[in-house]
Amino acid sequence: MDSTVLDIGCGDGSLTTKIFKEIIPNCKTITGCDISEDMIRFANEHFASDRVNFTTLNIEGELPDQLRERFNHAISFFAINWCRRQETTFQNIYDILKDQGSCFAIIVEKFTLFDAYRNLANTEKWKQWVIDVEKYISPYHDSQDSLKEMQHLLGKIGFTIKKLEHKTIVHDYEKQENLKGALMSVVPFKIPDELYDDFFIDLSKEIQMLDTKKYNYKKSTNDSVLNVQILVLYAEKSSYV
Ligand SMILES: C[S@@+](CC[C@H](N)C(=O)[O-])C[C@H]1O[C@@H](n2cnc3c(N)ncnc32)[C@H](O)[C@@H]1O
Repeated sequence: MDSTVLDIGCGDGSLTTKIFKEIIPNCKTITGCDISEDMIRFANEHFASDRVNFTTLNIEGELPDQLRERFNHAISFFAINWCRRQETTFQNIYDILKDQGSCFAIIVEKFTLFDAYRNLANTEKWKQWVIDVEKYISPYHDSQDSLKEMQHLLGKIGFTIKKLEHKTIVHDYEKQENLKGALMSVVPFKIPDELYDDFFIDLSKEIQMLDTKKYNYKKSTNDSVLNVQILVLYAEKSSYV
């Protein structure tokens, strides 16, 4: 009630708006931010209103002064895993928050898609397109103990952790067509149009193989299912330590 909320890595703004309407309609304002100018332009054109606004921000870059201690709450979904500089990212989130502010985030941890990128980058067929893969892989994908890593990082910055846990999301897209849309929307590589369908087939085969052999998941892309391991985090900023 009456609080200011920042949604970090808001993408096209649709989720920000849904959260505002369905979960926190009484907040004072909700601001979506994203590194992508295209996303913010789209969000402003389609979803901006009196209490919903969107702005460009790189959360792992230099924080503009006017954003310091501006928000009561920061939320972020499937975006912080894109940031290479995790310490700067969380320091910025800390600095953006007012005292007693909180951060709730869902961060992709381990995802078969990342292993599939690495495998396809080593094939003659795809290595020309599947490049710079490490840039797109979650910093926690290879971690042996991501909870410990995260605890250490947040503690160092000054956050008080209220909740930190792993979860596995098993998302059933019901049809191959839906799975293709969802999967290909996060693939960052510039695959030529004429190879797009072929790329999806190889990528989903690779995920199917890894899901079964490496992670022992029961269902995978053959059943139009994606499995994603996530970190769920809820932490507070308090000035007394
Ligand atoms: C997978 S989308 C998630 C969008 C939305 N949160 C959702 O769950 O529907 C990740 C978003 O994070 C944004 N992003 C990546 N790096 C970022 C950064 N350093 N600062 C702000 N946004 C970033 C991307 O541009 C992208 O729009």
